[in-house]
This record gives sequence, C-alpha cells and structure tokens, in this order.
Amino acid sequence: MKTRPAGWPGGRPSVVAHRGASGERPEHTLAAYELALAQGADGLECDVRLTRDGQLICMHDRRIDRTSTGRGVVSSMTLDALKAHDYGSWHASVTASERTSVALGDPDISNPEVDRYSEPSEPQTVLTLRELLALVVDWPGPKTLFIETKHPVRFGGLVEFKLLAELQRFGLANPRTETDPPVVFMSFAPSAVFRIRRAAPRLPSVLLGENSRYLGVAPSASGTPTAVGPSIKMLRERPSIVERARASGRATYCWTVDHPQDVALCRDLGVRWLATNFPLRTRVQLDGQ
Ligand code: G3P
Ligand code: CA
Repeated sequence: MKTRPAGWPGGRPSVVAHRGASGERPEHTLAAYELALAQGADGLECDVRLTRDGQLICMHDRRIDRTSTGRGVVSSMTLDALKAHDYGSWHASVTASERTSVALGDPDISNPEVDRYSEPSEPQTVLTLRELLALVVDWPGPKTLFIETKHPVRFGGLVEFKLLAELQRFGLANPRTETDPPVVFMSFAPSAVFRIRRAAPRLPSVLLGENSRYLGVAPSASGTPTAVGPSIKMLRERPSIVERARASGRATYCWTVDHPQDVALCRDLGVRWLATNFPLRTRVQLDGQ
C-alpha cells in the first residue's frame, strides 16, 4: 500500500489528472492519460457518455464538435461513427497560448519537464471507458480512476447500470478497501450517487457541486457519498466545507485546481484529492514543499 507524506490526515492531496494531462494533451485521449501516468499523477479523471449503440466513451461535451474534426451528438452516433474522426488535432492551436499564459506563466512553478512533454498532438481516436480501465489496471502501481457520468438523469440510470457492468468486467465494482481505491464514482446528480451507493455500496463516490445550494446539501445528501466535490471557486469562498465534510466522515475532492495558490490552499485545508489539468507541475509543487 502507498504511504503518504504529511498533509490531509492521510498525507498531501493526491493529484488527479483532470481529463488526463489535458493542459498538455487533448482531453480524454489515450495520449492525455498516458502522459498523466508518466508524469506521476496519483489518479485520473474522466467523463463518460453513452453512444447510440450503448458503448461508454470518455467525453465531456454532449457534442463532439469542440474536441474533434467531426460534428454531432454523442448519444445519436455509434462508436464506429465516432471513430471516423480525429480527437487530437484541435488541441495544438488552443494550448499554444494557454501553455504560455497558464502552464508556464508562473516563474515559480515552471519546470523543464513540462517543456519536454509539450509537443504537438498526434491524431487521436475516441477513447472508450473499457480502454481507459485497461490502461489503469495494467499500470504498475496503484492509480485511482475517477469516473463522472454525464447525462445521468436523461437516461434514467442506464449510464450507471452500464458503468457497473463495465466495472464488474474488470473486477472493480466491489473494492475491498476505500484507501487508494481503484475506482471512484462521481456525479453532480444526487440521484446518480444514490443509485450507485445502492447497487455497489463499497464503491467510493463523490457528489460534485458548484453552487451555494450544494453547500447545504452535500454533507447530508441522500446516498451518503464518500466525499464532497466542491469547485475551487466554492472552496475559496467557503473553505470550512472541508472541515464540515471531515466532521461527517467524508473526504474532499476539489476541482479544477490549476493555479499554484489554489494547490497550496487545498494542501493547507486538508483536501484529499485535487483534480488538475497540469498534474506534473502540481505534483512537483506538492512534493517540493
Ligand atoms: O472533476 C470534476 C469536474 O470535472 C466537474 O466538472 O464540467 O469538468 O466535468 P466538468
Ligand atoms: Ca468531469
């Protein structure tokens, strides 16, 4: 089992690569996840959506327009149709300026390792959840995959049902321990967390939230999630949410934490998991302090 340095009660925050190392590689692609693992991320985050033919793929948006060479709605396309497009080429033009202003803009945190990895992206195919699970399972050493279901309400639980079937295929639906779990379920929808907690009681879960109503709901939400999942904006405004969660036996997962000051805030408050688009420099910052 991993040992952790000081920080949250069990160590410093674990670094979760949000959509992979998506600040440096196109989000939700194999390239982004492989880079995150190579950079020493403790965990990976992904969003999943259902295709028309019932396959779970890793994708944030309802449509593929922003992150591919194609156009269309994921749920009305088959996996084969989705595979006809490139999911890598859009990223180079976007990140060229972002890398300068965001990733390397802070001289205190710039790192030569980041430059080494900052290369134009190769063409990428759409990534299925099954392929991502295989990557995590085969990786030497423990890694946690945080899986967020999108459109959980629209399909009345079908996404969670399919997800559990997929986890069972890998023997991951009923983990023996919640310390460094292989998979954590996440959703903004309390109903989705409830469904998962009922169907797979030992699978850790995070109830995500980004508005003030959530602050009142999260600690006592139905389905009793393992962790609360505030945005970094919420954490800045109400840092007491971490202590409140801890008092009710829950950890905190904070997203999306890209600025060094926010990384330090998470560490100081005792956040257990922080999701970042830049896992390398975040890990370097945390390990160097
Ligand atoms: O990690 C949680 C975070 O990803 C939720 O927001 O919109 O990026 O899925 P979103
Ligand atoms: Ca997400």
